[in-house]
Amino acid sequence: MTLISSADFKAGMRPFGAAVNIITTAAGGQFHGVTATAVCSVSAEPPSLLVCINRSASIHDPVRAARHFCVNLLAAEQVELARRFSSSDEAARRRRFEGLAVESLKTGSPVLPDAVAAYDCELVETVESATHTIFIGLVAAMRRAPGNVDALMYRDGQFGVWSPLASALAAE
Ligand SMILES: Cc1cc2nc3c(=O)[nH]c(=O)nc-3n(C[C@H](O)[C@H](O)[C@H](O)COP(=O)(O)O)c2cc1C
Repeated sequence: MTLISSADFKAGMRPFGAAVNIITTAAGGQFHGVTATAVCSVSAEPPSLLVCINRSASIHDPVRAARHFCVNLLAAEQVELARRFSSSDEAARRRRFEGLAVESLKTGSPVLPDAVAAYDCELVETVESATHTIFIGLVAAMRRAPGNVDALMYRDGQFGVWSPLASALAAE
């Protein structure tokens, strides 16, 4: 079977709008975190979700070791954190959690302040696929920010926010 090129695939995926999250875990006495959009609900019974993490990412092995992770759905105003947790600069990587008043819910994975929501997960299944591992987690605890906070979105290589169609609003 012939496949499209990875460059064509990347270009083809650009219109996919997705919410921006920081996946966190705690292992070896340290916090780890990385920006990720490849997050998806799996099932409501039991409450479960998946995240796809590149095997070369610094959080990959710590999630495997700790067997828990937290999905922190970022607020629109947290774009600086999205950049901080996706920078490949080695020195900056060690300072990712600097100045952040993290908390924990059930698993011990760090919960970031001011996130729209935090989904604290026990790792139950891993699926290796090409360059990535799909981590499936059962949601042991969840926290939502009060009020209506805009989530940070990513599409066409840019950060932004979601807005409803005026025509859809008019139809309601
Ligand atoms: C908007 C955005 C979304 C990303 N989504 C993912 C993702 O879903 N999975 C992943 O493994 N890396 C994703 N990345 C890349 C990682 O954040 C980036 O490679 C990070 O530097 C890798 O972690 P490390 O520097 O701790 O090794 C994304 C980056 C950005 C900017």
